[in-house]
Amino acid sequence: MGEDDVSVSLQSERLAEVVPDVLNAIHEVLERHHVTEEEWMAVLAFLTEVGRADEFILLSDVTRTSVLIDALSHTEDGGATASDVMGPMYTVEPPFRKKIYEEYEGMSPDDDVLFVRGRVTSTTGEPLPGAVIDVWQTGPAGGYDVWDERQPEGNFRGRIKAEEDGAYEFQTMLPKPYTVPTAGPVGRYLDAVGQHPWRPAHIHYKVTAPGHRTLVTQLFFPDDPYLDNDTIGAVKAALVRPVEKEDDHLTCDFDIALAPA
Ligand SMILES: [Fe+2]
Repeated sequence: MGEDDVSVSLQSERLAEVVPDVLNAIHEVLERHHVTEEEWMAVLAFLTEVGRADEFILLSDVTRTSVLIDALSHTEDGGATASDVMGPMYTVEPPFRKKIYEEYEGMSPDDDVLFVRGRVTSTTGEPLPGAVIDVWQTGPAGGYDVWDERQPEGNFRGRIKAEEDGAYEFQTMLPKPYTVPTAGPVGRYLDAVGQHPWRPAHIHYKVTAPGHRTLVTQLFFPDDPYLDNDTIGAVKAALVRPVEKEDDHLTCDFDIALAPA
Protein backbone atom coordinates (compact mmCIF):
# COMPACT_ATOMS: atom_id res chain seq x y z
CA MET A 1 0.00 0.00 0.00
CA GLY A 2 1.58 3.33 -1.08
CA GLU A 3 1.43 6.63 0.80
CA ASP A 4 -1.45 7.81 -1.38
CA ASP A 5 -3.54 4.80 -0.40
CA VAL A 6 -3.02 5.63 3.30
CA SER A 7 -4.18 9.23 2.83
CA VAL A 8 -7.23 8.07 0.89
CA SER A 9 -8.25 5.60 3.61
CA LEU A 10 -7.76 8.25 6.34
CA GLN A 11 -9.91 10.63 4.33
CA SER A 12 -12.58 7.97 3.97
CA GLU A 13 -12.55 7.42 7.73
CA ARG A 14 -13.03 11.14 8.26
CA LEU A 15 -15.84 11.22 5.71
CA ALA A 16 -17.53 8.26 7.43
CA GLU A 17 -17.33 10.19 10.69
CA VAL A 18 -18.58 13.59 9.47
CA VAL A 19 -20.97 12.96 6.58
CA PRO A 20 -23.74 11.18 8.54
CA ASP A 21 -23.88 14.14 10.94
CA VAL A 22 -24.07 16.59 8.03
CA LEU A 23 -26.96 14.64 6.51
CA ASN A 24 -28.79 14.35 9.84
CA ALA A 25 -28.52 18.12 10.32
CA ILE A 26 -29.80 18.87 6.80
CA HIS A 27 -32.64 16.34 7.08
CA GLU A 28 -33.68 17.74 10.44
CA VAL A 29 -33.94 21.28 9.00
CA LEU A 30 -35.86 20.08 5.91
CA GLU A 31 -38.35 18.27 8.16
CA ARG A 32 -38.73 21.12 10.61
CA HIS A 33 -39.56 23.57 7.83
CA HIS A 34 -41.58 21.13 5.67
CA VAL A 35 -39.46 22.02 2.64
CA THR A 36 -41.33 21.16 -0.58
CA GLU A 37 -40.13 19.41 -3.74
CA GLU A 38 -40.26 22.71 -5.57
CA GLU A 39 -38.16 24.47 -2.93
CA TRP A 40 -35.59 21.67 -2.81
CA MET A 41 -35.23 21.72 -6.62
CA ALA A 42 -34.65 25.49 -6.37
CA VAL A 43 -31.88 24.85 -3.81
CA LEU A 44 -30.20 22.32 -6.11
CA ALA A 45 -30.50 24.68 -9.09
CA PHE A 46 -28.96 27.47 -7.00
CA LEU A 47 -26.00 25.32 -5.92
CA THR A 48 -25.47 24.19 -9.52
CA GLU A 49 -25.32 27.83 -10.53
CA VAL A 50 -22.86 28.64 -7.70
CA GLY A 51 -20.57 25.90 -9.03
CA ARG A 52 -20.83 27.10 -12.63
CA ALA A 53 -20.05 30.68 -11.54
CA ASP A 54 -17.08 29.44 -9.44
CA GLU A 55 -18.58 31.14 -6.37
CA PHE A 56 -18.37 28.39 -3.74
CA ILE A 57 -15.54 30.10 -1.81
CA LEU A 58 -17.54 33.33 -1.92
CA LEU A 59 -20.63 31.49 -0.65
CA SER A 60 -18.55 29.96 2.15
CA ASP A 61 -17.28 33.46 3.02
CA VAL A 62 -20.60 35.35 3.07
CA THR A 63 -22.30 32.60 5.09
CA ARG A 64 -19.50 33.06 7.68
CA THR A 65 -18.50 29.42 7.20
CA SER A 66 -14.93 30.34 6.20
CA VAL A 67 -14.53 32.35 9.43
CA LEU A 68 -15.69 29.36 11.47
CA ILE A 69 -13.27 26.97 9.72
CA ASP A 70 -10.43 29.49 10.18
CA ALA A 71 -11.17 29.65 13.93
CA LEU A 72 -11.33 25.84 14.22
CA SER A 73 -8.04 25.45 12.31
CA HIS A 74 -5.93 27.83 14.39
CA THR A 75 -6.51 27.01 18.04
CA GLU A 76 -2.86 26.13 18.72
CA ASP A 77 -0.87 28.99 17.17
CA GLY A 78 0.01 30.46 20.60
CA GLY A 79 1.70 33.86 20.20
CA ALA A 80 1.44 33.89 16.42
CA THR A 81 -0.22 36.72 14.51
CA ALA A 82 -3.95 36.04 14.21
CA SER A 83 -4.94 34.17 11.06
CA ASP A 84 -7.84 35.13 8.83
CA VAL A 85 -9.89 33.96 5.87
CA MET A 86 -8.05 33.65 2.54
CA GLY A 87 -11.01 34.56 0.32
CA PRO A 88 -11.32 33.73 -3.39
CA MET A 89 -9.02 36.40 -4.85
CA TYR A 90 -5.56 34.90 -4.31
CA THR A 91 -3.45 34.17 -7.38
CA VAL A 92 -0.24 32.17 -7.06
CA GLU A 93 3.27 33.56 -7.35
CA PRO A 94 2.88 37.27 -8.05
CA PRO A 95 6.18 39.04 -8.89
CA PHE A 96 8.70 39.99 -6.20
CA ARG A 97 8.50 43.79 -6.00
CA LYS A 98 8.54 46.58 -3.40
CA LYS A 99 5.92 48.69 -5.17
CA ILE A 100 2.98 46.39 -5.82
CA TYR A 101 1.01 48.51 -8.27
CA GLU A 102 1.13 50.53 -11.44
CA GLU A 103 -0.86 53.73 -11.78
CA TYR A 104 -4.10 53.36 -13.74
CA GLU A 105 -6.90 55.51 -15.06
CA GLY A 106 -9.44 55.71 -12.25
CA MET A 107 -7.01 56.59 -9.47
CA SER A 108 -7.55 60.06 -8.03
CA PRO A 109 -5.00 62.61 -6.77
CA ASP A 110 -6.73 62.28 -3.37
CA ASP A 111 -5.87 58.58 -3.12
CA ASP A 112 -3.23 57.88 -0.50
CA VAL A 113 0.13 56.23 -1.07
CA LEU A 114 0.74 53.81 1.79
CA PHE A 115 3.97 52.21 2.99
CA VAL A 116 3.39 49.05 5.02
CA ARG A 117 6.34 47.82 7.04
CA GLY A 118 7.19 45.51 9.89
CA ARG A 119 9.27 42.53 10.94
CA VAL A 120 8.68 38.84 10.48
CA THR A 121 9.77 36.80 13.48
CA SER A 122 9.17 33.40 14.99
CA THR A 123 6.93 33.33 18.09
CA THR A 124 10.21 32.75 19.95
CA GLY A 125 11.28 36.27 18.85
CA GLU A 126 14.04 35.32 16.42
CA PRO A 127 13.90 37.14 13.06
CA LEU A 128 13.02 35.13 9.96
CA PRO A 129 15.20 36.46 7.11
CA GLY A 130 13.99 35.32 3.70
CA ALA A 131 10.40 34.90 4.89
CA VAL A 132 8.12 35.53 1.90
CA ILE A 133 5.30 38.02 2.36
CA ASP A 134 2.69 37.61 -0.36
CA VAL A 135 0.11 40.41 -0.47
CA TRP A 136 -3.00 41.17 -2.54
CA GLN A 137 -5.63 43.87 -2.28
CA THR A 138 -8.11 46.08 -4.13
CA GLY A 139 -7.01 49.29 -5.80
CA PRO A 140 -8.32 52.63 -4.54
CA ALA A 141 -10.97 52.41 -7.31
CA GLY A 142 -12.48 49.48 -9.18
CA GLY A 143 -11.69 46.67 -6.77
CA TYR A 144 -9.37 43.77 -7.64
CA ASP A 145 -7.38 43.71 -10.88
CA VAL A 146 -9.51 40.82 -12.20
CA TRP A 147 -12.70 42.90 -11.91
CA ASP A 148 -11.28 46.09 -13.39
CA GLU A 149 -10.30 46.34 -17.06
CA ARG A 150 -8.37 49.56 -16.42
CA GLN A 151 -5.82 47.81 -14.19
CA PRO A 152 -2.93 45.79 -15.57
CA GLU A 153 -3.09 42.09 -14.75
CA GLY A 154 -1.60 41.42 -11.31
CA ASN A 155 -2.01 44.99 -10.09
CA PHE A 156 -1.94 45.32 -6.29
CA ARG A 157 -0.36 41.91 -5.92
CA GLY A 158 3.24 41.18 -5.04
CA ARG A 159 5.75 39.25 -2.97
CA ILE A 160 8.37 40.75 -0.67
CA LYS A 161 11.29 38.94 0.96
CA ALA A 162 12.16 39.77 4.57
CA GLU A 163 15.68 41.21 5.17
CA GLU A 164 18.39 39.76 7.45
CA ASP A 165 16.69 41.22 10.55
CA GLY A 166 13.25 40.07 9.38
CA ALA A 167 12.23 43.58 8.25
CA TYR A 168 9.95 44.07 5.25
CA GLU A 169 8.37 47.05 3.53
CA PHE A 170 6.21 47.60 0.46
CA GLN A 171 4.56 50.53 -1.26
CA THR A 172 0.88 50.42 -2.09
CA MET A 173 -2.22 52.62 -2.04
CA LEU A 174 -4.59 52.69 0.91
CA PRO A 175 -7.44 50.36 -0.10
CA LYS A 176 -11.10 51.30 0.37
CA PRO A 177 -14.17 49.32 1.38
CA TYR A 178 -15.66 47.35 -1.51
CA THR A 179 -18.56 45.04 -2.25
CA VAL A 180 -18.04 41.35 -2.95
CA PRO A 181 -19.31 40.37 -6.45
CA THR A 182 -23.09 40.77 -6.57
CA ALA A 183 -23.86 39.98 -10.24
CA GLY A 184 -23.90 36.19 -9.75
CA PRO A 185 -25.87 33.67 -7.66
CA VAL A 186 -24.21 34.70 -4.37
CA GLY A 187 -25.29 38.29 -5.02
CA ARG A 188 -28.89 37.08 -5.44
CA TYR A 189 -28.57 35.12 -2.19
CA LEU A 190 -27.35 38.22 -0.30
CA ASP A 191 -30.25 40.21 -1.68
CA ALA A 192 -32.75 37.49 -0.74
CA VAL A 193 -31.58 37.24 2.90
CA GLY A 194 -31.14 41.01 3.27
CA GLN A 195 -27.37 40.93 3.86
CA HIS A 196 -25.29 43.86 2.52
CA PRO A 197 -22.28 42.96 0.33
CA TRP A 198 -19.66 45.33 1.84
CA ARG A 199 -16.24 44.49 3.23
CA PRO A 200 -14.02 46.93 5.15
CA ALA A 201 -10.77 47.92 3.40
CA HIS A 202 -8.03 45.31 3.93
CA ILE A 203 -4.79 43.88 2.60
CA HIS A 204 -4.53 40.09 2.34
CA TYR A 205 -1.32 38.42 3.52
CA LYS A 206 0.16 34.98 3.07
CA VAL A 207 3.47 34.62 4.91
CA THR A 208 5.76 31.62 4.58
CA ALA A 209 9.10 30.76 6.20
CA PRO A 210 10.95 27.45 6.46
CA GLY A 211 10.17 25.51 9.64
CA HIS A 212 7.09 27.61 10.39
CA ARG A 213 3.35 27.35 9.87
CA THR A 214 2.15 29.41 6.92
CA LEU A 215 0.09 32.39 8.03
CA VAL A 216 -2.86 33.60 5.97
CA THR A 217 -4.35 36.78 7.35
CA GLN A 218 -5.74 40.25 6.59
CA LEU A 219 -4.68 43.72 7.70
CA PHE A 220 -7.45 46.24 8.50
CA PHE A 221 -7.44 50.00 9.19
CA PRO A 222 -9.21 52.05 11.87
CA ASP A 223 -12.32 54.20 11.29
CA ASP A 224 -13.66 52.01 8.51
CA PRO A 225 -17.49 52.02 8.39
CA TYR A 226 -17.56 48.23 7.89
CA LEU A 227 -15.20 47.09 10.65
CA ASP A 228 -18.21 46.14 12.79
CA ASN A 229 -20.31 44.65 10.01
CA ASP A 230 -18.02 43.00 7.46
CA THR A 231 -20.24 40.87 5.22
CA ILE A 232 -17.92 37.88 5.72
CA GLY A 233 -17.43 38.62 9.44
CA ALA A 234 -13.63 38.37 9.20
CA VAL A 235 -12.47 41.41 11.20
CA LYS A 236 -10.36 40.67 14.28
CA ALA A 237 -9.42 43.55 16.58
CA ALA A 238 -5.78 42.37 16.69
CA LEU A 239 -5.53 42.85 12.92
CA VAL A 240 -6.66 46.51 12.88
CA ARG A 241 -3.51 48.68 12.75
CA PRO A 242 -3.19 52.47 12.97
CA VAL A 243 -2.25 54.51 9.92
CA GLU A 244 0.09 57.50 10.35
CA LYS A 245 0.70 60.48 8.07
CA GLU A 246 4.37 60.91 7.13
CA ASP A 247 5.29 63.70 4.68
CA ASP A 248 3.27 63.07 1.49
CA HIS A 249 2.24 59.49 2.28
CA LEU A 250 0.77 57.20 4.94
CA THR A 251 2.51 54.46 6.87
CA CYS A 252 1.23 51.40 8.70
CA ASP A 253 3.28 49.05 10.89
CA PHE A 254 2.38 45.39 10.87
CA ASP A 255 4.76 42.95 12.59
CA ILE A 256 4.20 39.28 11.93
CA ALA A 257 4.95 36.34 14.22
CA LEU A 258 4.87 32.80 12.81
CA ALA A 259 4.39 29.67 14.91
CA PRO A 260 7.06 26.96 14.54
CA ALA A 261 5.80 24.03 12.46
FE1 LIG B 1 -10.31 40.94 -0.16
